[in-house]
Amino acid sequence: MTSIPPIPAERLPQLLRRMPKAELHIHIEGSLEPELIFAMAQRNGVAIPYASVDELRRAYAFTNLQSFLDIYYAGASVLITERDFFDMAWAYLEKARADNVVHAEIFFDPQTHTARGVAMETVIHGLHRACEQARQQLGVSASLILCFLRHLSEVDAFETLEQALPFQDKFIGVGLDSSEVGHPPEKFAKVFARCRELGLHLVAHAGEEGPPAYVWTALDLLKVERIDHGVQSSRDPQLMRRLAQDRIPLTVCPLSNLKLCVFPKLEQHNIRELLDAELMVTVNSDDPAYFGGYLNENFEQTFAATGLSAAQAWRLANNSFEASFIGPAHKRSFRDRLDAVFAEFA
Ligand code: ADE
Ligand code: ZN
Repeated sequence: MTSIPPIPAERLPQLLRRMPKAELHIHIEGSLEPELIFAMAQRNGVAIPYASVDELRRAYAFTNLQSFLDIYYAGASVLITERDFFDMAWAYLEKARADNVVHAEIFFDPQTHTARGVAMETVIHGLHRACEQARQQLGVSASLILCFLRHLSEVDAFETLEQALPFQDKFIGVGLDSSEVGHPPEKFAKVFARCRELGLHLVAHAGEEGPPAYVWTALDLLKVERIDHGVQSSRDPQLMRRLAQDRIPLTVCPLSNLKLCVFPKLEQHNIRELLDAELMVTVNSDDPAYFGGYLNENFEQTFAATGLSAAQAWRLANNSFEASFIGPAHKRSFRDRLDAVFAEFA
C-alpha cells in the first residue's frame, strides 16, 4: 500500500489489534504466566520461594535488566518435562493468535534448562511440537531461535551448539541474550562464525542497556542480520546512518523498556526518533508475562503514549514481515492481508 487511507483516530486502537503482524522478539520462557509457574511447580514437585500467584506477581517490580533476569531464571526452573515446554509454547501461541500474530520467531534459552539436567531433546521437541500444532490448528506459523546466554562462556555456548545440532532442522537461527553490560558481542565471535558456516540465521541483543559500541560489534564481528532492542543506537548518529542504509531491523520492545527502566515513561520512548531516522523498527513483547502485555498491548500503549499514526502502524506491521526470516512469497501474502485490513478501515 503506497498511500495509507485516512483513518479516524478513534479507530486506531481497533486497527492496531486487527492488523496482521509478526512477532520477532519473544523469549518463550518470558511468556510463562504465574498461574502456569505454580501449576508446573506443583505437578513437578519443584519448590518456589513464593506463597501464591499474587505474591509472585508482586515481585515483578524491576529496576533494571538484571533484577528481572534473576526472577525470570527462577520462574523457568519449574520446566522439567517435554509437556511443560509444549504447554508453555502453546499458551503463548494461542495468545499470539488472539492478537492477530500470523508469524512468530520464538527465542528459547536452552542453557537455563540443560544446566538443571533437562535434556536438549526435551526442550526442543516440546517447543517444536507446539509450533507444528499452531501451524495446523491456529494458522500461525512459528519457528525457533536458540539463544546463547552471554553471562556464560563461549566454551559453554559451543557445547550447547553441539548438543543442539542433532535437532538443527527444528530451529532456524541463534541469538544472544541475558546480562548485556560487561558481556560484549565479541565474546561470542567464534561461535557465531561457526553458526554462520552452518547456515543458521544470526541475531543478537545489543543496545538494550549496553552502549552503541555493542551494536557496532554485533553487526561487524558477529555479522548478525537483526539487532534485538538496539534503542541505545540513537546516542550515535553514525550508527543510526549505518542501520538505515543497511536496512538492519531493530526488534524494539516498548513495554520491556518501560518495565526495565530503560526509559522512565513510555511517552519518552525513542521509537518515533528511530522511525523518523528511517530505521526498520518492529514492535515486540520480549517477556510478556513479566512486562504487563502481549503484542497488542505493546502496540496500543505505545501508540497512545507517543501519538504514532495509522501510516506508522502500517509501516511497523510491514517491517515485521520484511524483517522476518520467511521467504518472499510469504512476505507478499502477509502484506496483502495487511493491506486488506487497512482498506476495511478507510
Ligand atoms: N532474556 C529474556 N529477556 C531478556 C532481555 N530483555 N534482555 C536480555 N536477555 C533477556
Ligand atoms: Zn529480549
